[in-house]
Amino acid sequence: RSGTVANRARGDPELARKHGRLARLGFVPTMGALHAGHLSLVESLRDKTDHTLVSIFVNPAQFAAHEDLGTYPRTLESDLAKLGAADLNVAAVFTPTEADMYQEWPPYRTFVEPLEADDSAEGRARPGFFRGVATVVTKLFAAARPTVAAFGQKDAYQCIVVRQLARDLNLGVDVQINPTTREQDGLAMSSRNAYLTVEEREAAPAMYAALREVQRIVGRGLPWGVEELRTIAADALSDRGRGRFGPLQYLDVACAATGRPVVSSGESHAEGGAVLVSIAAPLGRTRLIDNMVIVPD
Ligand code: PAJ
Repeated sequence: RSGTVANRARGDPELARKHGRLARLGFVPTMGALHAGHLSLVESLRDKTDHTLVSIFVNPAQFAAHEDLGTYPRTLESDLAKLGAADLNVAAVFTPTEADMYQEWPPYRTFVEPLEADDSAEGRARPGFFRGVATVVTKLFAAARPTVAAFGQKDAYQCIVVRQLARDLNLGVDVQINPTTREQDGLAMSSRNAYLTVEEREAAPAMYAALREVQRIVGRGLPWGVEELRTIAADALSDRGRGRFGPLQYLDVACAATGRPVVSSGESHAEGGAVLVSIAAPLGRTRLIDNMVIVPD
């Protein structure tokens, strides 16, 4: 089934004749409950590809037993309506079932394990998450065989894992990373924002505000230590978040090039000393994450 979708989207002989080459297929994997962030990924491929394939699949392999697989928002009808907008150039939407992706018989047996991903801040918070992501992304790439696939910086470590697996496994997919789309008040768009109560939604921009506080320190190019940044972020989260956020789960600073943690200024090997600052904290029953790449002055 997935092969048919891919072949239809990619190898259309009429398109190949028209372009004198195989069509360039863009691909955006999602779990649905689409928002403007997802649509910006689709839009970013419009002028680089002949047509775009979007997948919608809530991947059980990336949810831990206590997480929100059962309640994850599923809004297929409105997702399809959004993707139908003519200017998005979406040729097909792939909506496999769980049994399509992980056959029950003979039992499913193959996983893709990104080394050390569980040692990252996000990996420690969600052990096994990146194995589930790497597995499903590899399977979706294999099914769709896209030329280029778009991912969002919102999930910074996921971007690092996907880039690496495309290279390591010779998948020949050009992995493109797009900036985080935000609400006007700074909150990073997320399908999980739908879980927030009105009061929590009002407090939610504190997470971006906390990142901006960190940016003020790191951006001025003076020495800093990660503990100091952690305190600044935790304070901003509780002050600006009107006490509604739970304790900081992590404030992590990493080299923007390698994703490896750094504990003080001057340790990043990225160009200009750029660091990736990532944050996670619960807001009521919803876990929020965000991040920012900061280049010191
Ligand atoms: P999902 O959370 O649906 O996100 C799909 C894609 O949209 C990911 O690349 C994500 O980083 C991007 N995205 C989400 N919010 C964004 C925002 N505010 N701005 C820009 N891009 C944003 O991420 C997943 O699904 C899954 O892990 C998946 C890759 C589909 C594998 O199951």
